[in-house]
Amino acid sequence: PTSDAAPARKVLLAAPRGYCAGVDRAVITVEKALELYGAPVYVRKEIVHNKHVVETLQARGAVFVEETEEVPEGSIVVFSAHGVAPSVHEEAAQRNLRTIDATCPLVTKVHQEARRFADEGYRILLIGHEGHEEVVGTSGEAPEAITIVDGPSHADDVEIAEGEKVVWLSQTTLSVDETIETVDRLRARLPILMDPPSDDICYATQNRQVAVKDIASRCDVLVVVGSGNSSNSVRLVEVGLDAGAAAAYRVDAASELQESWFDGAGTIGVTSGASVPEILVDGVLEWLAARGYGDVEEVHSAEEHLQFALPPELRRDLKAAG
Ligand code: F3S
Repeated sequence: PTSDAAPARKVLLAAPRGYCAGVDRAVITVEKALELYGAPVYVRKEIVHNKHVVETLQARGAVFVEETEEVPEGSIVVFSAHGVAPSVHEEAAQRNLRTIDATCPLVTKVHQEARRFADEGYRILLIGHEGHEEVVGTSGEAPEAITIVDGPSHADDVEIAEGEKVVWLSQTTLSVDETIETVDRLRARLPILMDPPSDDICYATQNRQVAVKDIASRCDVLVVVGSGNSSNSVRLVEVGLDAGAAAAYRVDAASELQESWFDGAGTIGVTSGASVPEILVDGVLEWLAARGYGDVEEVHSAEEHLQFALPPELRRDLKAAG
């Protein structure tokens, strides 16, 4: 072989990738609600942060709204996987809405921690992205007690009252490494800062980041399938670049891929965020195969077996309907 021979073309496919247990449950919740109650079923906010999922459910009769006040009195409304503040439950009750809560149980866990620490008089430093739905929902549990810290660069701005007890919690879909950096910077200023009782960054976020790190340094180009408003998908691009991928792109689907990104590339990495159906990854793999990247090696870094039961209010109605 000559030195200017084109590199062998192959794809490294990260595993785990794609749907987590919380997303799977939330999507099935809307599907079952549509079957059971018929359209329209209202959904407050995007059920999960994925364009394809939202459009598919819309076509089947789901109506996505931003706020509960847009839902006609007495209708059924599903709350998204990201969770809602207690005030949203109150508004829904006032409008006589029948609610089905598809909040991921791992987000609910963070809400419970926030309530407990607030009740015990702690100042809670919630590490997360300002304005992200999950952060808005969690903060709503104890708005007075919670201060949002949006990454390491904001750690230095945090002010604590004299003698205040302080604990940190986090959004479930952050970069693990960046969160450690934020905590280190907080602790440098606040040595009394207490750690949460367990990880808030969920298993799925962590596993997808480990999986992308496992392949990143071998990748000339990394393709992350996921929507732009999906926190964990966007993090996968950053984590991949940090871990050595030469270049990385996030796309919603194969239709957004551009030939020029792959000029001279040998090894392409592919992964997907926790809200991404596998059909979109299949589309990317087909697109790549058509351009000579048909050799796909799946690289497993963890096994996942977690499944969540559907929301109890939905299970009850499904049971009653036989
Ligand atoms: Fe839940 Fe984590 Fe998925 S918090 S919705 S399991 S990304």
